Amino acid sequence: MERDVIIACDFKNQEELFSFLEPFKGLNPFLKIGMEIFYKEGPQLVRKLKEMGCKIFLDLKLHDIPNTVEKAMRNLGELGVEITNCHAAGGINMMQAARRGLDATESGKNTKLIAVTQLTSISQEILENELLIKENLADVVKTYALNSKAAGLQGVVCSPLEAPIIKELGLISVTPGIRFADDSKNDQKRVATPEYAKELGSTYIVVGRSITAASDPVAAYKRCVKEFC
Ligand code: C5P
Repeated sequence: MERDVIIACDFKNQEELFSFLEPFKGLNPFLKIGMEIFYKEGPQLVRKLKEMGCKIFLDLKLHDIPNTVEKAMRNLGELGVEITNCHAAGGINMMQAARRGLDATESGKNTKLIAVTQLTSISQEILENELLIKENLADVVKTYALNSKAAGLQGVVCSPLEAPIIKELGLISVTPGIRFADDSKNDQKRVATPEYAKELGSTYIVVGRSITAASDPVAAYKRCVKEFC
């Protein structure tokens, strides 16, 4: 089964990341590498983590004209990561170009490409008043997911609560906003436990602070795997 737990590595630099990973030796966890640490350490960090046997979701959310995104994705394809992403707001042509860029390298052919539909920081109010999109946020998310599918993408990043509809569309869902039943929600609003995310049909859960800020991160990771996988 494809289902897996992805640890959100929201660390400042590789020293912090490697010290966090020390007790995970032999577990080869799936890691989410985002903009903060990627812009600090560069592709070399991803190569190192791959050599260590980690699976990688490279969360860089590309969004530019199709030609630029295609060329950027060609470079990311060479890293041979398991998952990467772009913004569905870039349009179907841009998403197709992103897929083409990955497919241009042997290692990139196996990289799953998923789309960000709407950031969770975008509310209905921002959508209407700042972006001048008058539709219902849920409808925008669904249409963007359908566009992602039409462009040949494999799935989307979404809330676990949206996973059932994404599954119905035949797409994989990568879902942040995960908390154990006994955790604090922090700044997340719509959360699910790993067990509930499984019930809802999430393909991958992205878990940050419930693992990274736990007193025993390895135990918290194993608990996630046990509840979700
Ligand atoms: O610590 P926590 O589990 O809330 O971290 C969730 C991770 O998922 C963070 O890296 C956050 O930026 C990311 N994320 C999110 N919501 C989205 C997309 C990404 O929480 N819609």
